[in-house]
Amino acid sequence: MIVKFILNGEDVTVRTAAFTRLIDLLRNTFSLTGAKMGCLTGHCGACFVLLDGKASPSCVIPAFSVRNREIITIEGFSQTDEYHDIMAGFEQERVDCCGYCDTGKILAAEALLEKTPRPARKEILAAFDGVRCRCTEPESLVAGVLATAEIRQRRLYGRGA
Ligand code: FES
Ligand code: FES
Repeated sequence: MIVKFILNGEDVTVRTAAFTRLIDLLRNTFSLTGAKMGCLTGHCGACFVLLDGKASPSCVIPAFSVRNREIITIEGFSQTDEYHDIMAGFEQERVDCCGYCDTGKILAAEALLEKTPRPARKEILAAFDGVRCRCTEPESLVAGVLATAEIRQRRLYGRGA
């Protein structure tokens, strides 16, 4: 089947089997390897992409279902100011980034902040539900996201949160 979608801001068209996993399409056809092969069952977040703005596990998304939708991978997202806000917030609060779950943590943070620029602690914890991280304490993640929210507010509006 032919599937057309938007990938990191570009219109793309691919021929693929309907049930090819999105993670395989990204890695094998587009050489985008930032979505990592983790659990492959939708439970760890290592393979997250933003699918129409929602942090989503690409290992359980079949190719046919992305038709006419927008996908941003960590490679595309890393070119944005929003990515740098998150990096700065995480660094400020010393959020661990060992490499295994970075894609999941970063894209989960972005999906939350895009919808909720000033999230509450409870909302932050809920946003990371789908991310399995062995290194980071939940409170450190909360601090990292709150720091990011402040940094972003300052960048956008020239003032603190
Ligand atoms: S590899 Fe997709 S959620 Fe774990
Ligand atoms: S930072 Fe190591 S698993 Fe998350």
